[in-house]
Amino acid sequence: MAFSVVVLAAGKGTRMKSSLPKVLHPIGGKPMVQHIIDTVNKLGATNIHLVYGHGREQLQNKLSHNDLSWCLQDKQLGTGHAVQQAAPYIQDNEDVLILVGDAPLIKESTLQQLIAVKKDADLALLTVELDDPTGMGRIIRQGSQVTAIVEHKDASEQQHQIKETNTGMMIMGGKDLKRWLSALNNNNAQGEFYLTDVIEMAAKEGKSIHASQPSSAIEVEGINNRVQLASIERAYQDEQAKALMMRGVSLLDPARFDLRGELEIGQDITIDVNVIVEGKVKIGSNTTIGANCILIDCEIAENAVIHANCIIEQAKVGEHCSVGPYARLRPGTVMKEKSRVGNFVEMKKTTLGKGSKANHLSYLGDTEVGEGANIGAGTITCNYDGVNKFKTIIGDGAFIGSNSALVAPANIGANATVGAGSVVTKEVNDNELAIARAKQRNVSNWQRPTKK
Ligand code: UD1
Ligand code: CA
Repeated sequence: MAFSVVVLAAGKGTRMKSSLPKVLHPIGGKPMVQHIIDTVNKLGATNIHLVYGHGREQLQNKLSHNDLSWCLQDKQLGTGHAVQQAAPYIQDNEDVLILVGDAPLIKESTLQQLIAVKKDADLALLTVELDDPTGMGRIIRQGSQVTAIVEHKDASEQQHQIKETNTGMMIMGGKDLKRWLSALNNNNAQGEFYLTDVIEMAAKEGKSIHASQPSSAIEVEGINNRVQLASIERAYQDEQAKALMMRGVSLLDPARFDLRGELEIGQDITIDVNVIVEGKVKIGSNTTIGANCILIDCEIAENAVIHANCIIEQAKVGEHCSVGPYARLRPGTVMKEKSRVGNFVEMKKTTLGKGSKANHLSYLGDTEVGEGANIGAGTITCNYDGVNKFKTIIGDGAFIGSNSALVAPANIGANATVGAGSVVTKEVNDNELAIARAKQRNVSNWQRPTKK
């Protein structure tokens, strides 16, 4: 049966103590509600209605979905009132799956199962048994039949003993839902319009209510404060780390690995501790990533070695390259195969040709280095005159002596040599030696000053 989804995301999230709407707080680098939208997208819903309260602009800027239906709940008068805001857009002859926006780990398979359970019932409810159900709505059963949900604040001492709780996720027919929503009232401990009251209405009409459970309780755990945000983040990271290891990646300590995006992998990759992977990252086979590296939207080819403490962002590292320790590859950097950069080397919009090396203490910006060139320690490309940026071209086999400054626009020919300590302001042709530094002068029998 065709169905639409309503995601409840209007709650204030007061306990986050944040100017960011709660549902935009990230899990694995992605807004928590985006996880739910992405999962829902796999289910094939007709419409996705997002009930939001404030921060529409922030929500629209940060969420990606082609045609989300935006339903404003101006005042947060309860979960039933929240669903009422989507009611005008709901068809009588479709099912409606209601989800909460602050439980991001819900699995597609759990929702598929809930949808399947609804096929033999009028209403299907996702419930979970908790050792400590404090604060949750309790599932009331007569025999095996679900007859109502009682909120914690409205529950009797005896009902507080019930461990089966409401996850807030359920599915029912659109026509039923709309009828029940319009009959809700707020005569309860919190003075709210409770969505959960529809369960008792359904039971009283003699409708069949079936319950289904998630594969683990973490899937339905909601986030209300930053302690829970951190604990869900850990659970999510643990899941991702396990999945990567099962796909053949060696994580030296899965508890010290963070993936905030997507990682595409080859075979036999080893990742040392405290590595953070963000955005879209690709790592080829037999590549190792040293401790404390941060990889952001980058590609690292096969058989590369990234030593400890490197930051690689929007850059490409070729096969058999070696990077770091302590190297920083900024956006637009391309290292061709077998090239090497060593410690304290920064590159930006720079191509380092096949087999070329910049092993120590350098800045290379807006630069093209050919094949087999050697960039000496301390070489700086002076690419910026305070207003404009200029390019530096270094030919194949060139040798740049230590501590040289190449003032861009600069052109160093193939197999050219630059003497150490040079400030190069003119073109150097192929095979030439350029020395641009003060001549050495020796003074014999020099007497050092003495103390007066
Ligand atoms: C709700 C359920 C409770 C369940 C629990 C699971 C009700 C009355 N109670 O309680 O049975 O055990 O979730 O976590 O439904 N929201 C709105 N607008 C509102 C109020 C809430 O959009 O006016 C959204 C929130 O953003 C959140 C979800 O609805 O995503 C649940 O709201 P919350 O306040 O956390 O409900 P609970 O009191 O925890
Ligand atoms: Ca809650």
